[in-house]
Amino acid sequence: FILILDFGSQYSHIIARKIRDIGVYTLLLYHYQDISISHVISKQKPKGVILSGGPFSVYEKGSPLVSKNIFHLNIPIFGICYGMQLISFLFGGKIKKSKFKEYGKSYLIIDHPNNNLFYGIPNKSVVWMSHFDEVKNIPKEFQVIGHTSSCDIAAFSHLNKDIYAVQFHPEVKNTEYGISILKNFVFHICKCNLNWKFNNFVKNTIENIKQRVNKKKVILGFSGGVDSFITASIIYKAIGNSLNCIFVDTGLLLETEKEKIYSLCKKMPFSIKIIDAKNQFLSKLIGIVDPEIKRKVIGREFLSIFQEESKKIKNVEFLAQGTIYSDVIESSVFSKHSSESIKSHHNVGGLPKTFMKLKLIEPLKQLFKDEVRKIGEKLGLPKEILYRHPFPGPGLGIRIIGEINEKKISILKQAENILLQELKRFNIYNSVNQAFIVLLPVKSVGIKGDKRTYEYAAILRVINTEDFMTATFSHLSYDFLEKVSNRITNEVDGINRIAYDITSKPPSTIEWE
Ligand code: XMP
Repeated sequence: FILILDFGSQYSHIIARKIRDIGVYTLLLYHYQDISISHVISKQKPKGVILSGGPFSVYEKGSPLVSKNIFHLNIPIFGICYGMQLISFLFGGKIKKSKFKEYGKSYLIIDHPNNNLFYGIPNKSVVWMSHFDEVKNIPKEFQVIGHTSSCDIAAFSHLNKDIYAVQFHPEVKNTEYGISILKNFVFHICKCNLNWKFNNFVKNTIENIKQRVNKKKVILGFSGGVDSFITASIIYKAIGNSLNCIFVDTGLLLETEKEKIYSLCKKMPFSIKIIDAKNQFLSKLIGIVDPEIKRKVIGREFLSIFQEESKKIKNVEFLAQGTIYSDVIESSVFSKHSSESIKSHHNVGGLPKTFMKLKLIEPLKQLFKDEVRKIGEKLGLPKEILYRHPFPGPGLGIRIIGEINEKKISILKQAENILLQELKRFNIYNSVNQAFIVLLPVKSVGIKGDKRTYEYAAILRVINTEDFMTATFSHLSYDFLEKVSNRITNEVDGINRIAYDITSKPPSTIEWE
């Protein structure tokens, strides 16, 4: 496999995805200073290492560095953007601020067409730049292998070792031969075999779970989303009825969610137990405003329910969750850099180990959302399950900004329900990837039926995305926006104003909290 050291670039996960797409397994490791990368490499034996881009300057205090030892491990290394500057810096080269911050399209002119990195690539092609520092002069063991009109050292390689670097981003769509460059690194230089296939993944995962669980039992925190349906399907294939699915009604669900789950589960072979924990959640959330504390409180309640339930079943040793890669990345408790604890996505992940008596099974932990869906297709799951919009574990709790109470939950449920109806009526549910309402703790003056109102303002958020790591707001018709706004403000007591959220992720996230 290929190990990617993430220095906080918004593109690191795209590198991981692109290489998986060409059939080679990748692992993304956050750069955090207290781990020995050399140790990880010696232990896990990747066939190559990619040093990602990142928002830093190598001279900046606290910028992420790696030990020079990684260059003595005899393993091919490929630096991208910040990764390139880092290699140069560690070998004694100089980095400078570019005259211009360079973002976007440039033409790469290849100076060494026979270089392994550029095998089969034309001498001039479009590349995508995004940087403000660049390598000023390269260390003596290196040669320049490509330049652009504004960047003299756009690519270099070591004279004797398999160390390569580029200033541009081969992983983004706009770099014309980016995939070829990644393939050259992965296949020609690292000599990786094709080893990443979904069929193998499912087969191997089932086998692993079977062996790990043995005669013990598993309880699964079942949310009803695509991730937990697929997790349950895989585990059920491995251990059959030793799987116990538990669906917690937190009181923070969409209006008809419980009934919907019942009807969807009828199509699946496993059964689920529904626990009514509305009062328990609500009482713990009173007075809490801070989003991270809310998430932690909700997470803790989930966990205590799972622990209680596990006591009722003999021989339970494992708790399974539908955690996927973006949850892991964004709630990373280790990273010191840009993906650092953006939000504590998964219920159990962010909690102290001592709190947790059950061992975790998270079969989808290394997969991106679209990969998860592809697995669901292979498992033959119905489309209405596979293409359900995601709904976050903390539910409406993180869509009510500020303090939560029963009145606000009821208002938001009604508004979300109207939105869902209109998405279906306008036939756009399947062409957007997530849509919801956020209730603000802000009131505004309005007029309904000649009477003054002073009610909450709410936000409509609809996004398009491939993997939920980046997203753009959906370009919806005014007819749809008008209909949703009219219906919510007319039919829901408590909301008299709707605004449409037109930000992308990044810089925003999809949910508001
Ligand atoms: P953000 O807001 O981080 O969301 O851009 C990315 C995707 O993850 C969902 N989300 C969660 N899912 N537990 C989950 O199972 C969580 O705590 C959680 N927080 C956000 C969000 O709805 C979006 O699809």
